[in-house]
Amino acid sequence: MAELIDGKRISKEIKDELKAEAEKFKAEGKEATLAVILVGDDPASAVYVNNKKKACEYIGIKSLSYELPKETTEEELLGLIEKLNKDDSVNGILVQLPVPDHIDENKIIRSISPLKDVDGFHPLNVGALLIGEKGYVSCTPAGVIQLLKRSNVDIEGKECVVVGRSNIVGKPMGVLLLRENGTVTIAHSRTKDLKSICKRADILVVAVGKPKMINADYVKEGAVVIDVGIHRMDNGKLCGDVDFDSVEPIVSKITPVPGGVGPMTIAMLMDNCISSLR
Ligand code: GUN
Repeated sequence: MAELIDGKRISKEIKDELKAEAEKFKAEGKEATLAVILVGDDPASAVYVNNKKKACEYIGIKSLSYELPKETTEEELLGLIEKLNKDDSVNGILVQLPVPDHIDENKIIRSISPLKDVDGFHPLNVGALLIGEKGYVSCTPAGVIQLLKRSNVDIEGKECVVVGRSNIVGKPMGVLLLRENGTVTIAHSRTKDLKSICKRADILVVAVGKPKMINADYVKEGAVVIDVGIHRMDNGKLCGDVDFDSVEPIVSKITPVPGGVGPMTIAMLMDNCISSLR
């Protein structure tokens, strides 16, 4: 029986630490403000944005909400971001992705001041992470590191395999594990013999976006498995990229879906917001 890595509990622990820190800052007259921009009416994005605003409220971060119609032009969005970049009372700016097709996502990411880019998506922050300089780190991979550390999983010297190479999760995940002195492999859809690569892993982080793709054939006995995926199945239930029922009996620790990595993303976003005051 594997130990469950409880992302709900760990994210609450982090949010409570941040709440105490926010109170301390408030006593010094400092308050963080996050501007949250949502373009269009994607229901999943609306839920995420709402959860982010609720987390801000819990911790004591002021949130400014910009809910723009799907017809909003790229110029209009860039104009709003420019205004927020210049506004000294705003510490963090977040544009919920995806944006509608007529808006260039990369252009939007680059337009946010790197000093306010609490998502850690700006190329300057990605570059800073790569060379070990200070900067905002992408929230989901940062959350995975916290899950491992707070579950007493030692990363140093371990075989770490990341499945998936997205800019938001896979690539920064690899760099963060490397920063913790893990021995890192980033595997992906073109990787030959993915099963045997994954089977080497002491720590396996899966972010492939395919429901239940990773089963017991891919994991070593006693490994630690982190599942970044989230999918809604036909029966309405949620599942991850890992086939939990197949993998759980042979590993030492595993994240559930839901309640694993998901809640950590918002906790780390809040950490990035508070860190703007540090
Ligand atoms: N869409 C899905 N995940 C994210 C995220 O972490 N940040 C933003 N801004 N949009 C997202």
